[in-house]
Amino acid sequence: MDTDLRSYIQKREHFCLQNSETPEEQGMRLDVLFELDSWNLEQKLASQYQGFKEFHSTTKQALHSETETWVGLHPQTLQTPYYEILDMLESLPARRIQKIVDLGAAYGRVGLVMQAVLPQASFCGYEIVEERVRLGQTLFDHLGLVQCSLKGQDILKDDFCFPDADAYFIYDFAGPELMRNILDKLQLIAMEKDIFVMARGQGILSLICQSYPIFTNLRNPLFGINWGVFANFE
Ligand SMILES: C[S@@+](CC[C@H](N)C(=O)[O-])C[C@H]1O[C@@H](n2cnc3c(N)ncnc32)[C@H](O)[C@@H]1O
Repeated sequence: MDTDLRSYIQKREHFCLQNSETPEEQGMRLDVLFELDSWNLEQKLASQYQGFKEFHSTTKQALHSETETWVGLHPQTLQTPYYEILDMLESLPARRIQKIVDLGAAYGRVGLVMQAVLPQASFCGYEIVEERVRLGQTLFDHLGLVQCSLKGQDILKDDFCFPDADAYFIYDFAGPELMRNILDKLQLIAMEKDIFVMARGQGILSLICQSYPIFTNLRNPLFGINWGVFANFE
């Protein structure tokens, strides 16, 4: 286990933006420090598979035919910036959070940032691209984060049972129809227990605000520049 790096991720200031760096620069700086070579992996995927909105490609297969895997995007565009994840996690009441699930987790960044603010909690990220799962899990193992895991899973499959958690994170990874499928399942969970939903991206934020009063009626959502944190209880 890399104890130096493990101590590094336990300090919240290490996930704040430094000096005048941009979110993308921060992402690249921290990914290099963590030796998470998402750049090369994304390049490799882009050379093999049809890219994001590359509709007219005749030579390359889509990585998955029924869902958008965002191949061809820069890794810093694909993922939520570290500092934004910190802001979202800090808005949660720590005493209520034992488990966080990321639905479409890429390399599992949320699990890393959690170590600084919610070290008691466990994390499970579900991700359809197995190559991303393997790289992210290798980093969790290197850091000895036994309470963090990434699983290869298509979360849109009818037989995927959403795991029990206190907070669910979801980046707007697909069009409204598919995002509704996910939000309907979260709504069913919210009818049974208190949960937080951390959402990023304008599409999903509008969808929740317009069509899922269960997540807005009882508690005022908290909004950041591109994210919102919702709950179904006061
Ligand atoms: C925009 S990225 C967000 C990654 C991460 N949650 C973050 O915010 O940093 C969305 C991820 O969802 C994954 N994804 C898309 N459709 C999926 C599906 N049906 N099941 C599981 N993962 C999916 C994509 O492959 C991609 O890695």
